[in-house]
Amino acid sequence: GQQSRSGQAESRSGQSGGLSRGLTQYGDAGFSMFLRKAFIKGAGYTDQVLNKPIIGIASTGSAYNPCHGNMPQLLEALKRGIMLAGGLPMEFPTISLHESFSRPTSMYLRNLMSMDTEEMVRAQPMDAVVLIGGCDKTVPAQLMGAASAGIPAIELITGSMLTGSHRSERVGACTDCRRFWGKYRANEIDANEIREVNDQLVASVGTCSVMGTASTMACLSEALGMTVPGGASPPAVTADRMRIAEQTGTAAVDMARRGLTIDQILTADAFENAMRVLLAIGGSTNGLIHLTAIAGRTGYTIDLEAFDRMGRETPVLVNLKPSGQHYMEDFHAAGGMTTLLRELRPLLHLDAMTVTGRTLGEELDARPDSFDQTVIRPLSNPVYPQGGMAVLRGNLAPGGAIIKQSAADAGLMEHEARAVVFENAQDLADRIDDPDLDICDQDIIVLKNIGPKGGPGMPEAGYIPIPAKLARAGVKDIVRISDGRMSGTAFGTIVLHVTPESADGGPLAWVQTGDRIRLSVARRELSLLVSEEELAQRKHQNPVSPRGAARGYEKLYFDEINQADEGVDFRFLANPDAKGSIPRT
Ligand code: FES
Ligand code: MG
Repeated sequence: GQQSRSGQAESRSGQSGGLSRGLTQYGDAGFSMFLRKAFIKGAGYTDQVLNKPIIGIASTGSAYNPCHGNMPQLLEALKRGIMLAGGLPMEFPTISLHESFSRPTSMYLRNLMSMDTEEMVRAQPMDAVVLIGGCDKTVPAQLMGAASAGIPAIELITGSMLTGSHRSERVGACTDCRRFWGKYRANEIDANEIREVNDQLVASVGTCSVMGTASTMACLSEALGMTVPGGASPPAVTADRMRIAEQTGTAAVDMARRGLTIDQILTADAFENAMRVLLAIGGSTNGLIHLTAIAGRTGYTIDLEAFDRMGRETPVLVNLKPSGQHYMEDFHAAGGMTTLLRELRPLLHLDAMTVTGRTLGEELDARPDSFDQTVIRPLSNPVYPQGGMAVLRGNLAPGGAIIKQSAADAGLMEHEARAVVFENAQDLADRIDDPDLDICDQDIIVLKNIGPKGGPGMPEAGYIPIPAKLARAGVKDIVRISDGRMSGTAFGTIVLHVTPESADGGPLAWVQTGDRIRLSVARRELSLLVSEEELAQRKHQNPVSPRGAARGYEKLYFDEINQADEGVDFRFLANPDAKGSIPRT
């Protein structure tokens, strides 16, 4: 009969696994299988081996992606695990995205990678898939794609880079990249020193060494139950990381045998656990967008108000940059997610299923004992009393906005002041360092047109630099508001993800220099103190024209992209079977 496009249905039936999954139709099924076997045998396989559970490996090695630079070693350890457990590893390539080599932005390309992953998992016969990801957008893209494909899936994180040393100071990408560049802009260090530190910021292959988006998504993957226990934290070049790879291979074969499909793991309980962890690690604001997109693939929507309520009772426990002091290798040495999840235990759904076939609670009981350390705090002595993020609303952000309060200046979080407006990223680049720019440290910088459509691709330009003349005068922070994102490695009193975005006709589009804006993190408020009539008049006089493109992926992007509160996914990729909103508090 006709093969189903739904991998989920097939693997559950348990009758059409292995090489016969998703059989291409060439006349009769027997001939199709005969052809398929003939071709794969061109690579030297025997019938005996082809009858084993087939474990696909989505490999994302690329010369343009040093965050995945340990791919050869990972593959060797992973394949060892698969083969010794009785499976047949089948490696295949997908798109690989590195933050610095993805024009215009990696976010613009994330959905393309998710479609590539989904369709290759569907197209090729496999009983389970191992997704190898690390750099910011790769893990969310893979989880989105795998959630839609529906077969047993497990994430293998590449791991963080090592820290470097600059004139006896420990440094790592990329909170320190920003800190040193800020010093250079303020004339505190010279051209020689900035060149020197450039060699030290990325001291090995692997992902950024602070609690940026990559580390955040690694921790969320483990919290979701999508990695083996302890899979989030080992640095890329360590023996621990290779052991995780081997264990991932073993687990993947077991998942294939049990038919442990991804929908049994990505449940409302799992997403709520991941949201707790996002708050408790002081994680990247990007993590919220990615979780929203992954949840959307399973039919769940994120209730931002409920997420904010969750944040009020979830303290930041992990003392990592940019919210705190340490680096990922310290988090790993402190026991990584095992230590954190134990601390969060009273706030977690311990019955959530994981890739091992055991629940989160069962896995926590089986892990090594906790010990004294200083990187992951107890609930009784948090780094920050509330979660890392707060959700703001008001007439400037009817669909919500985010502030990473744990990385903001406490003195600026209740602030009413004059707006200094930049129309887009180019306008900002042209004028921000102008000595004649009319601005003081009490003003609020507003940057428009860096949202999902405006950027396009919602660039991480929300981390607006301090104007040079203020930086040189010693100003370290200033309130900044935009419809863009910021790197998970950045810090400051920065309001992000203003929804709807200005390029989509959101109220942000109508802000003018001189308007008053009120930010109150305590009241979760972001207000533009301009009358409705005045705003309506501005809108009428200067309407926003819709963005689009004539062809290609760009056209698809502009036609289908949704807003930050929906995960910046393509509308047609969301799961049409609505399951409700989370967190359910
Ligand atoms: Fe890849 Fe930071 S650039 S994780
Ligand atoms: Mg980043």
